[in-house]
Amino acid sequence: MGAPKLAPELQEKLVAAAERAWRNAYAPFSKFRVGAALLTAQGNVYPGCNVENSSYGLTNCAERTAIFSAVAAEGPAMSIRAIAVVIEGDGACAPCGACRQVIFEFGPEAVVIHRSENGLRAVPIAALLPEGFRL
Ligand code: THU
Repeated sequence: MGAPKLAPELQEKLVAAAERAWRNAYAPFSKFRVGAALLTAQGNVYPGCNVENSSYGLTNCAERTAIFSAVAAEGPAMSIRAIAVVIEGDGACAPCGACRQVIFEFGPEAVVIHRSENGLRAVPIAALLPEGFRL
């Protein structure tokens, strides 16, 4: 699992991009706006926000919006180096279980940057999702 390796400047860049991303959230039902920013192995950054739906279960989380945009842009070999997730305000927010599995699919070594109760935290996805599912 090892300590996550991501230069502090890159972490800051991703958090800043995620902070911009939550502003685009479509969250009229929960009013809980989430932003994500994903860094790919190719070095590109993709933003994501949550997109809710009147049929609640169709909601897409910010992390998966970013991941699916990255796949749409780079193709199926897209590999996640790191992903930052923040919410409006400065509260703690770690990725939900479904997003952890999707992060793992495209980045088993990815670093996840999120706010915890003790401030910003960078952790390997394998620490958040032990024994992620693989076909
Ligand atoms: N949400 C995310 O965007 N990411 C997460 O990891 C957890 C939850 C969104 C989904 C929904 O629009 C709102 O937060 C409340 O659950």
